[in-house]
Amino acid sequence: MSRRLQLDITRMFADAVGKDFGVSRDEVDALEPRLKALLQGLEAKRKGGTLPFYDLCDAEDRFSRIEDYAAKARTKFKNVVVLGIGGSALGAVALREALKPLHWNELPDDKRDAPRLFVPDNSDPELLAAIMDICPPEETLYNIITKSGTTGETMAAFLAILTPLKEALGDKYREHLVFTTDPAKGNLRELSRTEGITSFTIPPGVGGRFSIFTPVGLLPAALLGIDIRKMMSGVAEQRERIFNRNFDENPSVAYATLQFLSNSVRGQNIHVMMPYSNAMFRTADWFRQLWAESLGKRNNLKGDTVFTGPTPVAALGATDQHSQVQLYVEGPNDKTFTFIFPKHYRRKVKSGKHFPDMEAIDYLAGKGMDELIIAEGKATQRALTSAHRPNMAFIMEEIAEDTVAGLMYILEAATLVAGGLYEVNPLDQPGVEAGKIATYALLGKSGYEEERATIQKEDEREARII
Ligand code: PA5
Repeated sequence: MSRRLQLDITRMFADAVGKDFGVSRDEVDALEPRLKALLQGLEAKRKGGTLPFYDLCDAEDRFSRIEDYAAKARTKFKNVVVLGIGGSALGAVALREALKPLHWNELPDDKRDAPRLFVPDNSDPELLAAIMDICPPEETLYNIITKSGTTGETMAAFLAILTPLKEALGDKYREHLVFTTDPAKGNLRELSRTEGITSFTIPPGVGGRFSIFTPVGLLPAALLGIDIRKMMSGVAEQRERIFNRNFDENPSVAYATLQFLSNSVRGQNIHVMMPYSNAMFRTADWFRQLWAESLGKRNNLKGDTVFTGPTPVAALGATDQHSQVQLYVEGPNDKTFTFIFPKHYRRKVKSGKHFPDMEAIDYLAGKGMDELIIAEGKATQRALTSAHRPNMAFIMEEIAEDTVAGLMYILEAATLVAGGLYEVNPLDQPGVEAGKIATYALLGKSGYEEERATIQKEDEREARII
């Protein structure tokens, strides 16, 4: 892997954490023929055009349109509000947190070079109302993101914001909307045509949680003034590696294989991702969705019932040393850990020398807080390793456009490899459908009358409420 982004897998192996809990090289070697076949299959699909997410870094023409639109919008709007959910929301938040200063939205206007970005990715009315309270229509651009164009949470929020937008702006409300959706299908595409609203397209074949490098993630990023070309150069750099047949040279294959072996051989089915960086915490949250929705499946590819899938958890170092690490070090050995360690932090804060006579705290005086967090990360890594807990680490030279996007791309590619190893389809989400159908039925959408009647019958049964 490039020197700016590395994956340290040392502590996943038996020689670091013991043979009862660590992966053996023999296990990896035994999987090699399967991995080679799997990569060959993925590469063939990629060449056949059925896995377009691999090659989004080639879409130069799309980048210019995004940049041109964003450059104008940045001068016009004080706020950007993304209405989307799941794969249509988590990437934008992750990029804002990683690549803009923390507490970006709270900075005074003269300290920001681009609009604030809000992503109310829930149907909680208090959340959307709170954002509407602080984003007057005149100063706000709404980016509605939905690939299907039907998602209830997103469409409800869209319909909710339209009322104040139209009231405040009359016909000009259209200029305060931009859609990101399927090029041909869905309600939003139709509305973009009938209402004359600017739109960007999500390439067909790129699913929600794999769409961060389409306008789904790139447009909000560009609206924030993030250099999307630098991001995509980080992606292109990692693309060179993800089809490498050599386990030791391919970070996505190594990541997926080690997680799969720990899970399937030793039952370590909780996958904790723990950045030692607030800026990277929402990337761990983005990964949580990617790993969970892609690998958590009832049926395998043959149609057998398997109820498979690791449970991803996002934790934050050093904060969770005072919340979760007790459990991680001494609780059940049913987890693997992925640290994200930046080598350098972008801001420096030093502890002052104020109480020289107080030895218990004076050792901190004159030290940078970066020294402290780096030491704490290393200490947790050591504690977990001594307690036989397999762990690995993505090491970023610094948190920057290329390393953040490169890391996300490696994780997307790893998800496809893991899907192959678990023998499930990582690109579908049939389990989410049941909830969507019940919601439609409860809200009286036509065509769901039968489901509504069943739910009503269930509700009439005697409930046991304490
Ligand atoms: O990964 C996925 O496919 C999902 O999380 C979707 O992104 C999410 O359900 C939102 O779907 P849509 O973009 O169609 O509104």
